[in-house]
Amino acid sequence: MRATIGTSISEAIDHLNKNEVVAIPTETVYGLAGNALERESVIRIFETKARPAFDPLIVHTHSVNEFHKYADVPAEVIPWVQKLSPGPITYILRKKPIIPDLVTSGHPTVGLRIPNHPLTLELLRRLDYPLAAPSANPFGYVSPTKASHVADQLGGKIPYILDGGDCEVGIESTIIDLSGEKPVILRLGGYELSELESIIGMELNDIRLSSSAPHAPGMLHSHYAPGVKLFTSSIDDLLPSYSIEKIGAISFTNPIHGVLAEKQLILSKTGDLREAAKNLFRHLRALDNMEIEAAVVEMVPNEGLGKAINDRLKRALYKSN
Ligand code: TXA
Ligand code: MG
Repeated sequence: MRATIGTSISEAIDHLNKNEVVAIPTETVYGLAGNALERESVIRIFETKARPAFDPLIVHTHSVNEFHKYADVPAEVIPWVQKLSPGPITYILRKKPIIPDLVTSGHPTVGLRIPNHPLTLELLRRLDYPLAAPSANPFGYVSPTKASHVADQLGGKIPYILDGGDCEVGIESTIIDLSGEKPVILRLGGYELSELESIIGMELNDIRLSSSAPHAPGMLHSHYAPGVKLFTSSIDDLLPSYSIEKIGAISFTNPIHGVLAEKQLILSKTGDLREAAKNLFRHLRALDNMEIEAAVVEMVPNEGLGKAINDRLKRALYKSN
């Protein structure tokens, strides 16, 4: 099989109706989508990306009215969803039985999301089922932000890639757990915390900062790793082990002194965190095509979207054990 890359919603629907999986564009990253209500499709999603069955999938739909079919939605949550979605956010809610346990890895909750991408919204409106979709990368690798990224890694395993151009946000959705007494952030992502707090009207806790937190899905350790070894050390610490031609760099606005100019990737020359988020995964992938062995990465300012970017960068760092 070799995936066709195209912009035909009908073609995507034909495949999905046969319980096949199709890559879809969203504003965050590309997803690997299948009918969320059919076990056969869901099994295909897990198999295609070699994802462990204990890591649950997000269910995508086109409107908050649809949420009621799939989850119990507390009354106060509806205006939040109306203001925040479509957008880069996933809501964890108590699931209804129509959602197969396979989708939620046996959890009593389901992640629901309304992606903000015109092609995918139209696709979702034309389907009579929601789409389960993890990011369209092999498990443990960097998420794809353009159709060609999906084709490079999963093109031999899926029939169709719906091409919606470059993802505007570039990092995955923020995940907010609304199934407990108080909202909790499970994953930092495309929505800034301060924006969420102003709409939800309370301070939001980040589960990673709570020592009593149970192991949350989505908090797997090395999750965004490219093949090249990434370090936050200075170039001087790497030079004894690697020759200069084999060292690359990703930095925020200014090149890193001592690294060869052609091996330097800049996230945003103007210091714009939105632009940095949009470039992040593309640059991490580019390192793997540079014939280098190691790269120095510079963290970005730890504010706003910078927190989500640094979270991805930290997880991509080389771990010797
Ligand atoms: O931006 C995104 O969210 C993208 C696009 C395609 O929508 N999707 C995405 O999916 O990033 P994935 O599977 O790569 O990451 C989803 C995360 C996983 O870490 C999973 O553990 C968590 O969401 N998750 C899903 N359902 C959950 C649940 N019921 N409770 C807690 N975490 C959940
Ligand atoms: Mg993922």
